[in-house]
Amino acid sequence: MHAGTLPAWVNLPNILLGASAAIALIALFLAYVGAATQTAQPGYEQYKWQDTKYAGIRSKIVTVKIKNATSTAEYIKTGNQAIDSVVAGAIDQYVAEFTGELAYFSWPSSFAPEQNISYQIIRSTPEILSVSLATSQRISPTKSTTDTAYWTFNPHTGQIITLEDLFSEQARDGTARTLLYIKQAIAKRLQQKNQPVDLSIADKNLPESELVNFLAADQSTLRFDFAAGEIMKPELGPQTITLSIDNLQLFMQTDTARTVFTVMPVGEQRITRKIEGQQSTDCKKTKCIALTFDDGPSMYTTELLDTLGQAKAHATFFIIGQNIAGREKTILREYQEGHTIGNHTWSHPWLTRLSLDTITNELMQTNEKIKTITGNTPTYMRPPNGAIGKNVYTALERTSMTGVMWSVDTRDWSDRNSNIIYNRVVAEAKPGSIIILHDAISTSVKAVPRILDTLQKQGYTFVSIDELFGPNVAPGKIISRSE
Ligand code: NI
Repeated sequence: MHAGTLPAWVNLPNILLGASAAIALIALFLAYVGAATQTAQPGYEQYKWQDTKYAGIRSKIVTVKIKNATSTAEYIKTGNQAIDSVVAGAIDQYVAEFTGELAYFSWPSSFAPEQNISYQIIRSTPEILSVSLATSQRISPTKSTTDTAYWTFNPHTGQIITLEDLFSEQARDGTARTLLYIKQAIAKRLQQKNQPVDLSIADKNLPESELVNFLAADQSTLRFDFAAGEIMKPELGPQTITLSIDNLQLFMQTDTARTVFTVMPVGEQRITRKIEGQQSTDCKKTKCIALTFDDGPSMYTTELLDTLGQAKAHATFFIIGQNIAGREKTILREYQEGHTIGNHTWSHPWLTRLSLDTITNELMQTNEKIKTITGNTPTYMRPPNGAIGKNVYTALERTSMTGVMWSVDTRDWSDRNSNIIYNRVVAEAKPGSIIILHDAISTSVKAVPRILDTLQKQGYTFVSIDELFGPNVAPGKIISRSE
């Protein structure tokens, strides 16, 4: 907002405003306040143009006064009419609400009701335009409010890109995860502010269905702007939440997401080999499904092994290295009973924040420990929190390991309820599904007998990742399901 600003205010009687969006605004003012306004002095509008630092984007700042009430709104003029009218539509609605409220208020002449609406360009690239609109209102000395609206546009078509567009077929799981991560961020911020961690406001105002638009802060960061009172107590003010996409990459395997962010590839993997052995399962002929359990071994793992054994079901355990000590026998039993032992790093860090060497060490240390117990070096790993980035790929290449994500997201760490977990698995299971669960969570372990029972009755065979893909199907790559 610097060079090229036209300094002069242009005063126009409203009759000369032509097709400006403001004419509707004036009409509203007159409709609501007109009766109290002297006919000789109707509301009037001023506007001025401002350039922005973004090529081709200008602002039209429209100020309307009725008596001593002022509304100032910054309209975006990108040259793309679809974009401009989406933003203008939101602004016009705010102005209509403001004037509507004023109609029911009488205020002392010492007080000047006020509304300010301005936009901010959060990110502008040839492929996307992220715009955040902030509104603040004071309609009485004691009442002030804020609101926000935001969009990421495709500047070629003018269409809004939604989270659903980003996540495509994974939309439900992706949006659910995004909402959980937003709430985690809210909880963390409340803690930082020494506030009680109360998510009831966010729970009430932010149902999954409301999570439609997003902002792209940069090529790897989602951003959401919330009004005062929307996710926390109003006195804490407006809140901006940013999320790294590192742990949402799995859900962004779409062309649209790749135009907005730098997305790491997660692939599907063809079943490559039939497992030889006494009870060989050919997943090309049989409906196979892979249960995977992270974060163990834990105090619940032996119960889980009993359950799996009774059902003659195989699974995969992604082990945290530092959880091994004292539970070596559990790991040996997992191995001996035909399950795949995978690597879930040594200390469960957020890998994308670590150096390549540190990531490699996290993997090697756990592999070595497991090898001392089973005699075998794991070839499959799961990144903690599903967070993946360039260094994770390189570490997988260095260690010749295959990364395994998932295709059925139980979110069992969030909903610690066996019924919910059971229902999600049964509803989403398909042949070739990889299902993420945690054997460190008792409600997940308790859901397994019913999961096995129901899906076996539907003809599914529960296999380990080794049985699904072979011993190390895609070293240096990350996969999420079988074809
Ligand atoms: Ni984990």
